[in-house]
Amino acid sequence: MSKLNDPDYLLNEQYQNAKKLNARIRLHVEFSINKYGWCLWVFDHFNLPKICRILELGCGPGDLWLENISRIPAGWEITLSDFSPGMIEQARQNLANQSHPFKFEIIDAQSIPYEDRQFDAVIANHFLYHVPDRRKSLSEIHRVLKENGKFFCSTIGETHMQELPALIEKFDPEIETVFKSETYPFTLENAKPQLREWFSKTEVDRYPDDLEITDADAIVDYILSSISMSMDNNRREALKRFMEQEMALNGRVIFVKKDSGIFKAWNL
Ligand SMILES: C[S@@+](CC[C@H](N)C(=O)[O-])C[C@H]1O[C@@H](n2cnc3c(N)ncnc32)[C@H](O)[C@@H]1O
Repeated sequence: MSKLNDPDYLLNEQYQNAKKLNARIRLHVEFSINKYGWCLWVFDHFNLPKICRILELGCGPGDLWLENISRIPAGWEITLSDFSPGMIEQARQNLANQSHPFKFEIIDAQSIPYEDRQFDAVIANHFLYHVPDRRKSLSEIHRVLKENGKFFCSTIGETHMQELPALIEKFDPEIETVFKSETYPFTLENAKPQLREWFSKTEVDRYPDDLEITDADAIVDYILSSISMSMDNNRREALKRFMEQEMALNGRVIFVKKDSGIFKAWNL
């Protein structure tokens, strides 16, 4: 089993808390060319009734809702869930004292503890590729959705940020990158047939964006969050100097191509 969908690694190292994920989110927030913002763009797709029940799976620290807090209709009853207790705690803290109330649950997306046909929408952003039994998870999502319910799930394309593993390999071929987009089992390229097993209609929308990174520390933090080994200070400094040299060669910037988007799936 690769680390990408090894529950022990994901739960106890990668997503025990939000620290590693936040290092990666920081790179996107600070260096994305598209300044509209991923979370706002995702929210734009939620063409849902003013009164509805929503379940988010794999919610992480809850950024989607924090970023869109003033846009959430009062009649949306939102349950945020994740299989990591640390992530749920972070989401709870981030959304405490906000104008909209939220429910929080620890849920493994492979076994959703709700009766059939409870939700108008289920949301699963950037995590179905981590789920070992994705077919089970999709059947569970389908089961808890109402007949006319909508499933929204974002993911990456196979070429997403491929420059980074290439740079890491140039620095040291021995370093194992945990997350390599071309090996993902649920991407913008291969998700549709998986969704079509449960949903008769699917639509996909891609977010136009790339990264122009001008801060070596931010890229080093990103890399450290997505490799399976730790680095002592000397090694970290060497990696930083390597990134600064790469930037100097390319007009003080490292360009990274992105490919991410969102699927909407439903039944007619
Ligand atoms: C890449 S993060 C995405 C977080 C958030 N959805 C976002 O887009 O920022 C993946 C999240 O999925 C969660 N996760 C991984 N496997 C899961 C599973 N089987 N069931 C529920 N959550 C899971 C992790 O704990 C982590 O919070």
